[in-house]
Amino acid sequence: MMNLMSLTSLTSPTMSSLSVNTTFGSFQNPKVRNLERLQDLEQRFNAKLIGQETAVNEVCSVIRHIITGFHDESVPYGVLLFAGPTGVGKTELAKMVAEELAVPFLRYDMSEYNEKDCQSTLLGSGPGYRDSEKGGNLIKSLQEYPVAVVLFDEIEKAHPSIFPIFLQLFSEGRITDRMRNTVTAKNVIFIMTTNLGSREIFRDLQGSSAPSLSAVLRPLFVDIFSPELYGRIHKTIIFNNLKDDSLVKITENFMMTLMQEIYQRKNILVCWDHNVIEYLAHSKSSPEMGAREIQNRVRDLTLPILSKSYASQLFSEGDIITFYTQSDGLNIKVLSKGKKKSQRHFVHSTAHYDFYLSSPRSKL
Ligand SMILES: Nc1ncnc2c1ncn2[C@@H]1O[C@H](COP(=O)(O)OP(=O)(O)OP(=O)(O)O)[C@@H](O)[C@H]1O
Ligand SMILES: [Mg+2]
Repeated sequence: MMNLMSLTSLTSPTMSSLSVNTTFGSFQNPKVRNLERLQDLEQRFNAKLIGQETAVNEVCSVIRHIITGFHDESVPYGVLLFAGPTGVGKTELAKMVAEELAVPFLRYDMSEYNEKDCQSTLLGSGPGYRDSEKGGNLIKSLQEYPVAVVLFDEIEKAHPSIFPIFLQLFSEGRITDRMRNTVTAKNVIFIMTTNLGSREIFRDLQGSSAPSLSAVLRPLFVDIFSPELYGRIHKTIIFNNLKDDSLVKITENFMMTLMQEIYQRKNILVCWDHNVIEYLAHSKSSPEMGAREIQNRVRDLTLPILSKSYASQLFSEGDIITFYTQSDGLNIKVLSKGKKKSQRHFVHSTAHYDFYLSSPRSKL
């Protein structure tokens, strides 16, 4: 069961993500907001979340409304449903919203609220119950973090007895526990995620059936939420399956992140060419594969080769090595030994480091 400790530990606020004045406390005052950051909002989001332009556009328009103060003040800042297959960026985008607004990110795994009496876990017990003086998780969290992004992950797994709580939250922007304490939730963006409809989304991508995807998905969602609750959701945002070019880009970005970590930790500069990325992105490729699988595969296919060759002293700290493709998969060779002082200096220079990592690597 998720308690407040684990909740807060999952959710450390990222106050540093905005440069001025958009800290937690000043968030409610749009006048002090750094509006300049809104100019390239979509661009920044699309650079991080690949191949989800429609979802990014929808979410950025919500952020823009909030920051400029054009949102509806009678309800929460946002009530969004993120629907789509596994590993395509739903949770990541929710985190990015919290980061952008520099507010805490509170995640509830709804599969932990799948029993009939889980209302009391969320809200606290009623008078006369043994632990009635304790507030429920949600009440406590909203008291502590009145401005936040609250994620209800895998909403379809929640027990329906929880949904009346959501009805009040989403329609009135407040919540009342069984001790009649009321907490406001107007300055909260609620995001629910679901994998429901993944099959339909995949079929849509293949160009068959489904005249309108949202028309196909609507009955599925109404069925779990009830029409009344589904009507309180401001936007249902559909996430695509990741297409081939997105998978390649995600592979490249993740390879960059992983190898930068290695460079920082062990001072070993790792290069690769485009064939390597294609190989990592496509080996065992399935069109329904998500980014999580790509990350695992990049790790699984590169780290064992690196550690094995390092253990056999093929290379060591200060060296430059490169991955290349062979008929039977990936291999590595040493491009340069980092013994000479001048060479070491050359490798450490940021400009050349960038050059190595971002220029056409096949030439190396
Ligand atoms: N479109 C994307 N672009 C870049 N990285 C992505 C993308 N989608 C997912 N990732 C990365 O893959 C990992 C899993 O993504 P995420 O947790 O957002 O998946 P999800 O859609 O919430 O899946 P699930 O339905 O299984 O919860 C994260 O590390 C995330 O950064
Ligand atoms: Mg998720």
